Amino acid sequence: MIATVRSARKLEGAITVPGDKSISHRALILGAIASGDSHVRGLSAGADVQSTARCLRALGVQIDDSLIGGRGMHGLRAAAAPLDCGNSGTTMRLLAGLLAAQEFESELTGDESLSRRPMDRVVEPLVRMGAKAAWPPLRVGGQTKLEGFEYTAPVPSAQVKSAILLAGLYANGETSVVERVRTRDHTEVMLSAMGADVKVDATRVTVGRTERLEPIDLAVPGDFSSAAFWLVAGGLVDASNIRLEGVGVNPTRTAFADLLGSIGFHIGRAKPRFEAGEPVADLEVRPARGLRPLRVEGRMAAEMIDELPVLAVAATQIAGTSVISGAAELRVKESNRLGAMAAGLIAMGADIVTQDDGWVITGPRQLEGARVDSAGDHRVAMALAVAALVADGKTEIEGAECVEISYPGFFDHLEYLC
Ligand code: S3P
Repeated sequence: MIATVRSARKLEGAITVPGDKSISHRALILGAIASGDSHVRGLSAGADVQSTARCLRALGVQIDDSLIGGRGMHGLRAAAAPLDCGNSGTTMRLLAGLLAAQEFESELTGDESLSRRPMDRVVEPLVRMGAKAAWPPLRVGGQTKLEGFEYTAPVPSAQVKSAILLAGLYANGETSVVERVRTRDHTEVMLSAMGADVKVDATRVTVGRTERLEPIDLAVPGDFSSAAFWLVAGGLVDASNIRLEGVGVNPTRTAFADLLGSIGFHIGRAKPRFEAGEPVADLEVRPARGLRPLRVEGRMAAEMIDELPVLAVAATQIAGTSVISGAAELRVKESNRLGAMAAGLIAMGADIVTQDDGWVITGPRQLEGARVDSAGDHRVAMALAVAALVADGKTEIEGAECVEISYPGFFDHLEYLC
């Protein structure tokens, strides 16, 4: 599908972004091994979360809308065929951890993009725990004598951390993950809410062997990483006034909002509340004033990894040179996001130079509408749509249907706000 997006004069209105993708995956997976039915409202309807639901159904789990029929820690059964994780790295890596601890073997497959992504980062620690695990293709399970250990993560990754913690629920003794950068902590928060033995000590997360998880009752907060597109769009388009209702504001997710605030964006918070241990608020976005160049390096990049494509768009509108570094991980996401964003923004007239681990972007540049390629990557498609809102004329985004991965309805929201 080609999406046509035109220059916007203002963006106005209140929207509810889809349920958080990271929390939705975890609610399904942990709900599946809980002792009894969980009720999870507002699950992401995106294709990635559907991939997790599809795999769990193939493992014998009943999932009907908001109800997840927990089968207990040892109630999963072998799937009849390889588990298709679609485009979803979170599905593949988290399920690899869970399934590595089962008495049956599972094979996990995915689409072309997912088949290219690195899985050794999860296989290697699982093997060190004593699990049977190999890649490619990704095969795990069949050996249940797992031993807890302490793992220092070489790459900051919440997916790898979560995979190890899931396997750790079945391992003898304690399993710890030590992180250089604290990544999103939704697995730890949810495990705690379900009664597991989880300890968090600064940068170390530890779980003990767990015989029982209590079912959960949860309304999934809005996805901060989806809200991020509107934080930038509302800041860049004059006279905008956007209200994003019920967005998850877990501090391991919101470094991007703090950075935007520090360079001149106006993002207010209203109605702060909690949902199953997760902080939630309404976000109010007004036009930015007097923007200053930004610098992202090292740990900051890991803290806002999913928001970097749209941050690059913001940088094209800021006077001076902005530098985004420490983001080599972007090369192994759903697409090579460093290359895909640079190609799209250069086609629109931006001054952006790709480095090994980021971009150097000089602005402000008046962007021009152009034909650009999403590279089949949902966050690239949405970031380029935000660029199109501040570009002259019309922009055509090829492969725009990929927004379905995390944000079905993105273009409806865009039309509504315009
Ligand atoms: C996610 C973790 C991040 C993020 C992805 C979702 C998760 O990936 O980019 O969109 O839900 O754990 P990494 O763990 O590979 O950094």
